[in-house]
Amino acid sequence: MRAAPPAAARPGSEPPPPFALAHGAGDAEIRLFLEDSVAGLPRRLAPGSVDVLVTSPPYNLGVEYAAYDDARPREEYLDWIGRLAASVRTVLAPAGSFFLNVGGPPRDPRLPWEISARVEGQLVLQNVIHWVKSIAIDRSAVGSSHRLARDLTVGHYKPIQSDRYLHGAHEYIFHYTHRGDVPLDRLAVGVPYQDTSNVARWRRASGGLRCRGNTWFLPYATIRRRRTDRPHPATFPPELPDRCFRLHGLSRIRLAADPFVGIGSSAVAAARLGLPFVGFDVAEEYLAEAARRLQALAAERPAGRPRAARRGPVTGPATP
Ligand SMILES: C[S@@+](CC[C@H](N)C(=O)[O-])C[C@H]1O[C@@H](n2cnc3c(N)ncnc32)[C@H](O)[C@@H]1O
Repeated sequence: MRAAPPAAARPGSEPPPPFALAHGAGDAEIRLFLEDSVAGLPRRLAPGSVDVLVTSPPYNLGVEYAAYDDARPREEYLDWIGRLAASVRTVLAPAGSFFLNVGGPPRDPRLPWEISARVEGQLVLQNVIHWVKSIAIDRSAVGSSHRLARDLTVGHYKPIQSDRYLHGAHEYIFHYTHRGDVPLDRLAVGVPYQDTSNVARWRRASGGLRCRGNTWFLPYATIRRRRTDRPHPATFPPELPDRCFRLHGLSRIRLAADPFVGIGSSAVAAARLGLPFVGFDVAEEYLAEAARRLQALAAERPAGRPRAARRGPVTGPATP
């Protein structure tokens, strides 16, 4: 059984209520705050109270966000990342995980590592995961046992015009912990053994699964109309936070958070898994879309779940 969620706010100050309050599977509470997360994390959440944070910050690439200037001087931006990391360290549980998704443009491949260096000023880098967004697999490389009919190209990428750089088909998911020693539930995101001939002993021990490793192919869902289907310029698919949550270990998550929640991809993942969750963003229109997604998710849930049926799982944007 999952432990009770920890107290969320420090006594004393009276911060405003959440912008939106929703309930996920099992009535897990999902709170979305319209505020700066660097200040908001330690203000809203008790020290050491968050078991997993999964997020993707702005990368300082000049993306047109609704309420954030994504073109700041490099040092100023990196200092800000350092302050964010300090806030994360404050709220992160002793055996907690912080998953930080970052990418860099092909012309600036060191950017993710400069960001990581600032986070490493506060936390220990325990794993580096490569989020593969698109990949080409040659039939000849796969071997005959898989019966691939032809070469395969899957996923989406952003094409660039260049005779110097390759287009970017992957981003990083840096995994940080306080001391680099947090055990993970590797088989919760494991994959079946392909060659079962000489692994019988291991198969018995692991239920036929092996560690997935640190390359995760997670394509975006294909959409028709960007403005209505994914109204945000820089999202990750909900499958990304879902996998991070599972890898950390669902039974050990009393509270999850995303300091840059955008249109709520991580909130959706948490709601599906029944994880209590807190998200922050500075753009009201993104949080409104996140609340709408949570509402749609709640409507899909089978009827008859006791609390959800009584109260209505989503209350929509909270009244101030
Ligand atoms: C890369 S996007 C995250 C998108 C999100 N992962 C999703 O799938 O929707 C970064 C988000 O950070 C938000 N943001 C920028 N500065 C912020 C701050 N100080 N506190 C909270 N959110 C902020 C932006 O509005 C933007 O939505």
